[in-house]
Amino acid sequence: MNFKNKDIISIRDFSKDEIIHVLRTAEKIENKPDIDLMKGKVMSSLFFEPSTRTRLSFESAMRKLGGDVIGFSDPSGTSLKKGETLWDTIKMADKYSDIIVMRHPVEGAARLAAEASSVPILNGGDGANQHPTQTMLDLYTIIKSKKKIDNLNIGFLGDLKYGRTVHSLAIALSHFNVNLYFIAPDALKMPDSYLEELSEKGIKYVEESDLMKVIKELDVLYVTRIQKERFPDPVEYKKYAGVYQINKATLEGVKPDLKIMHPLPRVNEIHPEVDDTDHAIYFEQAGNGIPIRQALIALTTGMVK
Ligand code: CP
Repeated sequence: MNFKNKDIISIRDFSKDEIIHVLRTAEKIENKPDIDLMKGKVMSSLFFEPSTRTRLSFESAMRKLGGDVIGFSDPSGTSLKKGETLWDTIKMADKYSDIIVMRHPVEGAARLAAEASSVPILNGGDGANQHPTQTMLDLYTIIKSKKKIDNLNIGFLGDLKYGRTVHSLAIALSHFNVNLYFIAPDALKMPDSYLEELSEKGIKYVEESDLMKVIKELDVLYVTRIQKERFPDPVEYKKYAGVYQINKATLEGVKPDLKIMHPLPRVNEIHPEVDDTDHAIYFEQAGNGIPIRQALIALTTGMVK
């Protein structure tokens, strides 16, 4: 399997075998890190939208493999302010680096960047569209904690309309034999296009607005933040902010090995009292960003096969 020069734009660009290859590569790198693997290589880290985990874990991943990082976390300090286009910005980063990781608020921006670039583009999130490297680390986390993906009951809770991590992960899970539960208020339900895609692939799912009706059936609960920045109307956002909160009372009677995931940042969807329960794996999940992103950097630059 050869990933050299492959852009990582959407999880739809990966077959099941390719996803499994990425997860196995991450496991190998985590078990036996090579601190010189990316020596002499440079990664551009271009964040046009705020990030903590994606940016820091990508940059840490590159540095831990011996590579260097250039870039920005605030585009207001770049020539975009003078009117430079995304296309031209990518044309420059392409000349200065061997790989580009990018986050952008506009859906499709990563695909455009891939057209402009001769080096691999790794999409760190484009608007409400896709967040494929998050999906890889989510799958890695599920396998590490549950030892399997098949035959799990996996619930998604919160803002399923705008949540790009949910969109990417649901599509990735359609390669497996899973039962999905989409738990959201009507206004934030999973977009029909994703539900249709899941149905076409034979994935069983239920839609529900009341978490308590289904929580006892779940093996994994993937909680998401209500995405304030994606709401066209702040009044609408206020209607749904705080609609769900997981606390210890919510977890009474759930399966003892229910695992709670969250791509983070959280606002108030999970009370901190849950953090020290055996159910909480969201900080471990964020940590898994390092081996997964190391694997993606190494595979797409051709440093490992
Ligand atoms: N999970 C995630 O994408 O977090 P950041 O927005 O902090 O990168």
